[in-house]
Amino acid sequence: MKNLLPWWIRIPALFFIIFAATEWAIDSGDQPAFIAIPTIQLFLGIVLLILIAIEIIVAAVENIMLHSLDEKAKERYFAEKDKLPECKWVKSIWIFLIGKKKEGATEETIIIDHDFDGIKELDNNLPPWWIYLFYATIVFAIIYHIRFDFIKEYTQAEEYEMEVAAAQIAIAEYKKTAKDLVDVSTVELLTDAADLSAGKQIFESNCVACHMADGGGGIGPNLTDQHWILGGGIKNVFSTISEGGRDGKGMVAWKQILKPVEMAQVASYVITLGGTTPANPKEAEGELWEE
Ligand code: HEC
Repeated sequence: MKNLLPWWIRIPALFFIIFAATEWAIDSGDQPAFIAIPTIQLFLGIVLLILIAIEIIVAAVENIMLHSLDEKAKERYFAEKDKLPECKWVKSIWIFLIGKKKEGATEETIIIDHDFDGIKELDNNLPPWWIYLFYATIVFAIIYHIRFDFIKEYTQAEEYEMEVAAAQIAIAEYKKTAKDLVDVSTVELLTDAADLSAGKQIFESNCVACHMADGGGGIGPNLTDQHWILGGGIKNVFSTISEGGRDGKGMVAWKQILKPVEMAQVASYVITLGGTTPANPKEAEGELWEE
């Protein structure tokens, strides 16, 4: 077992398994357990110390045992140790990563006859991952050449157009879910019953003091008639609500208080008041507005 993995893999691996098990077993809400419960850190620290201690003890025991053996016995021991079953796939991954040494090679036999400021080069086998990556680039190049130079699937310019189109669709999708992105240039009249009733609520809690519950007007102008001081239509109404009225008139810039989506909702609600007959209509002010 001991030979399977070197200690610098064994300790982190065991530690990680214990760490993962703790996280899995302890329900700590959104935060990782070792942050939510600081004692876990202490526990993990002790676990790490114990793991290191075990390694040191095992190495020490082995060392003492080696001292008690004579040369022959030592050789036998090492031969036996090398023969211990090794994890095949770990070994094959290892060989894949670093490659096999040349048969019987020593540094003297494979050193190449050149020297760069004292830096010398050994003629080792290339590691397999490098070679396979290189073959893969060749295959890639051939496929690429066929697709784009012979078949001419699409040009770079077309690829660009396709990506821009896809991005625009994605932006449109995003804007649908992110209603808060509306501003005066993108705002549209909302007709959804949910939006209008939300708009009505916003109106009732913020605007009735000056415009009356039925929009007939008081301190503020009548919102039900066809005349607008600051312009009718959803864009102007949105802009008035967002930026406020003329200085000193009393209509504040609601963008400080309301979210963009809420201003769009209340603006749409205000538009629906148009043409209704309030109880005490204030006389029309401003210009007649026609869409
Ligand atoms: C403190 C009183 C007051 C409150 C509260 C108030 N308004 Fe006003 N509102 C006014 C006044 C005064 C004007 C006229 C501004 C001007 O003449 O420049 C006005 C103008 C407007 C206009 C433009 C009317 C036009 O003829 O162009 C709209 C639309 C409007 N308010 C909507 C709202 C909405 C929606 C709310 C609630 C979120 C609200 N107001 C809250 C006082 C108020």
